[in-house]
Amino acid sequence: MRVSHTIAAGLKDLGVELRPAVALTEKTSLGIGGATDELQLHNYDTIPDVLRLLADAAIPHKFLGGGTNVLIADGDLPWVMLHLPPAHPGFRVEGNIAHVDASADLGGMVTFCAKNNLGGMEGLIGVPGSVGGALRMNAGAYGTQIGSYVREVELYRAATRRIETVRGNDIRFDYRHTSFAPDDIMLRVKLELPPKPYKEILAGIKVCNEKRRSSQPLNQKSAGCIFKNPAGGSAGRMIDELGLKGHRVGGAVVSDRHANFFVNADSATSVDMLRLIDQVRERVRTAYGIILENEVIVWKN
Ligand code: EPU
Repeated sequence: MRVSHTIAAGLKDLGVELRPAVALTEKTSLGIGGATDELQLHNYDTIPDVLRLLADAAIPHKFLGGGTNVLIADGDLPWVMLHLPPAHPGFRVEGNIAHVDASADLGGMVTFCAKNNLGGMEGLIGVPGSVGGALRMNAGAYGTQIGSYVREVELYRAATRRIETVRGNDIRFDYRHTSFAPDDIMLRVKLELPPKPYKEILAGIKVCNEKRRSSQPLNQKSAGCIFKNPAGGSAGRMIDELGLKGHRVGGAVVSDRHANFFVNADSATSVDMLRLIDQVRERVRTAYGIILENEVIVWKN
């Protein structure tokens, strides 16, 4: 989608940088996605005005975080892509509270907190993506989930068109799910973390890194796990038991290393990946009577 000349000037006045027809294959960990105009914001406070301008011009939009848990449609996309102001580096510590921008890198934040002797998040070290993306879906690994440490979130609430602050106790964090509305935009978070010596945190980080390296296809293009685990089970184990490792649709393949990772092995399209997801879901449904729910977020056109 192209941003019309009529609103380009208004966006510029709000400090928004416009990049025309960007290929989103470059912006996602799957390396899949069509093209659209990209709007880079440089100031959190202008978000309500920018979104009002787009709404008045009937231009649909989406915010992209780290692009690590999303499957974007191919071709010319019917919405523009927004990016939050870049984080430089986007985190600071005050006592045992970390103040973090949503656009900050999740791993960078874990390391920064560790250096300030704040732990708890060791399990999140290898999870790729932005802090905002992790918050929205309550990302987790190795017994840690980010929601456990949230004291306060500042967000843009589409329902009120305002920036609001929500207390951690008023947010529900479940397994890979939160009570945020789908169109809430995470802006900043305050995390309350347990004090821990840097050396101890580092040892925990090392263990998690080793586990991840030995079980996940880290050097291939993926979106992490494609499906959520069903209660009490493992999607990866079920798909593996069905002999589906290596199963392929076009350039999309079930990883040989971890069966719940679907990789873009060779110029996969979104259609390839969606077909692979449907086929595997159907095989698991037939064999186990379980309907696997997507963990990856799908943006259709
Ligand atoms: N397994 C197999 N074959 C496979 C994959 C796994 O037999 O191809 C078996 C493993 O041997 C293990 C069990 O299944 O006994 C569980 O595997 P794993 O420890 O890899 O955990 P998972 O349930 O598949 C979850 C998260 C991961 C997270 C790991 C570690 C989900 C959907 N996945 O994976 O998160 O890194 O635990 O905590 O919750 C993600 O969310 O994208 C993700 C990668």
